[in-house]
Amino acid sequence: MTDRHTDLVEAVRFVPGGRRPRRLRRTGPLRDLVRETTLAADDLVYPLFVVPGRGVRRPVPSMPGIFQLSVDQLGAEAAELDGLGLRAVLLFGIPEGKDSSGGQSHAADGIVQDAVRVLKGASPEILVLTDVCLCQYTDHGHCGLLDGGGDILNDETLDVLGRIAVSHARAGADVVAPSGMIDGMVGAIRSALDGDGHHQVGTLSYAVKYASSFYGPFRHAAEGAPRFGDRRSHQMDPGNAREALREVALDVEEGADALMVKPALGYLDVVRRVHQAVPELPLAAYNVSGEYAMVKAAAANGWLEERSIVLEILIGIRRAGADFIVTYHAKDAAAWLKDRG
Ligand code: PBG
Repeated sequence: MTDRHTDLVEAVRFVPGGRRPRRLRRTGPLRDLVRETTLAADDLVYPLFVVPGRGVRRPVPSMPGIFQLSVDQLGAEAAELDGLGLRAVLLFGIPEGKDSSGGQSHAADGIVQDAVRVLKGASPEILVLTDVCLCQYTDHGHCGLLDGGGDILNDETLDVLGRIAVSHARAGADVVAPSGMIDGMVGAIRSALDGDGHHQVGTLSYAVKYASSFYGPFRHAAEGAPRFGDRRSHQMDPGNAREALREVALDVEEGADALMVKPALGYLDVVRRVHQAVPELPLAAYNVSGEYAMVKAAAANGWLEERSIVLEILIGIRRAGADFIVTYHAKDAAAWLKDRG
């Protein structure tokens, strides 16, 4: 036995008349008083999928409770979120047309740019984060420009990412979130934003994004699945954690204002490591579509009790070290947190 272990045993040894941990678990108010990790609606970010057209509110079959919305629906959506105490959204756009270079991604009147203006017009207080990537906008569904052989042209893509970020900032976005795992994306976006005068617009980098099968339902919702091949040449291998710290170091160096790990549940060790490695930057975790779909499916079958499972999952992600969480459960969780009772 190590000395450390002996000390721990000493510290917790049951002594009649001594310390008993159960004393502080006796009542609800006591448990609330000594809880180490908290969860509140303002720790949550709600993703929105915006589609062309008017009057569209189309359910995403693999994500019960989640809808693709047209821009005209966003005012009502903002009011609902506000009523629940939810302050932040992450926008994904599905454009009218796709092409090989994803031109619609940085159009001044593109789908995300319009959505930002409408949300800010409806609710100036709402925090608007935007996803910056090409996969929804390219006809091949990859996250960057491709060379003749189908490989991503890293540095040519950086220029387009900068233009997307600037177009979102001009529309009024508060924070841009590059998700493509293109090397140098944070630095390129920072200098493009500064070059256009958007010093106040922050970057939330999807610094550590794994090549995960948990994105399946999202690819239905965002209509952004690759037409051929996969994303393993740019997203991270699930077996790697030390590499995550190298990714993080690069993004910190390039000026990221906040970092994100994605997915969340199979990667809580990575959330913890990043939290410990870079305590000075806010850290987000993305509780992704497949994680949501699993809970919804089990709950629909009566196999799990949705409310307690969701709150347990979210507090677990916070306990691992995430300051805030992007989650499709945000509306339900906010409502449940309100009537904790
Ligand atoms: C890419 C992007 C993806 C997600 C967020 N941004 C999909 C991917 O990389 O294939 C997934 C989110 C989720 O599954 O909820 N722009």
